[in-house]
Amino acid sequence: MMPDMQIDWDITWLDEVASTNNAALDAARSGCLEGTVIVAGSQTRGRGRRGNVWHSPSGGLWFSLVLRPELERNELWGLTALSALSAVAGVRSLTGLSVGIKWPNDLYIDGKKLGGVMAESSGGAVVIGIGLNVNVDPADLPSVEWYPVTSLLAEGSGRIDLALLLNGILSELGERYGLLVHRGFSALLDEWRERSVVRGMRVRVECDGSEFRGTAVELDELGGIVVELQDGAERRFEPRAGVSLGLDKSS
Ligand code: BTN
Repeated sequence: MMPDMQIDWDITWLDEVASTNNAALDAARSGCLEGTVIVAGSQTRGRGRRGNVWHSPSGGLWFSLVLRPELERNELWGLTALSALSAVAGVRSLTGLSVGIKWPNDLYIDGKKLGGVMAESSGGAVVIGIGLNVNVDPADLPSVEWYPVTSLLAEGSGRIDLALLLNGILSELGERYGLLVHRGFSALLDEWRERSVVRGMRVRVECDGSEFRGTAVELDELGGIVVELQDGAERRFEPRAGVSLGLDKSS
């Protein structure tokens, strides 16, 4: 790998906050430096993609970081992807557990959702929020209609030092950020495909209110996913608001 971007991470730990993404967006609007990180023991109004509530009890790793990337607008999706890859790598090196990515931003273990990544922009800054159910007791995990949820604790990791895990993820992120900025997403494409849990799976895609079912056949270098629909036609979906993908259990 190329030398990382040497981001000076400036980490603030809070006991509780409404949402670390909100706090990081406020900090970004006030002109904070790239590398500002806000971590919270728990969140009272954690947010997920598509306006979902993000259940954030104590024991999880809930944090947001501010980047000020020199990237074209159409390359920004790569930040979500590299953050998911960094979370996967950080968990794996600390616990040995194999985490996969359900396109485009969900972290899965063994068919269950472990965490997620969410990017939001404000001015020239991008805030990346990462939520991971780490030391969350199985009894405190939310029950979600669409998919099972798990934690590292529930998967047998034992209790994890959250600061160690955070530092590991940030260091992985610095490396991949350097690759994205200097060489583009193609430098991360092999890892992106390798960690994907959707290729070859039956999927259900909601796109701007319409539903499509088929088999995920490819992840492309522009962040899209190609699905072979039931009539044999292939359709590409972009990783943007208005598009979401679920694993199709009805097949
Ligand atoms: C998703 O899967 O929908 C993305 C979830 C992102 C949750 C994290 S937890 C830290 C940060 N603060 C928030 O309010 N959300 C993100």
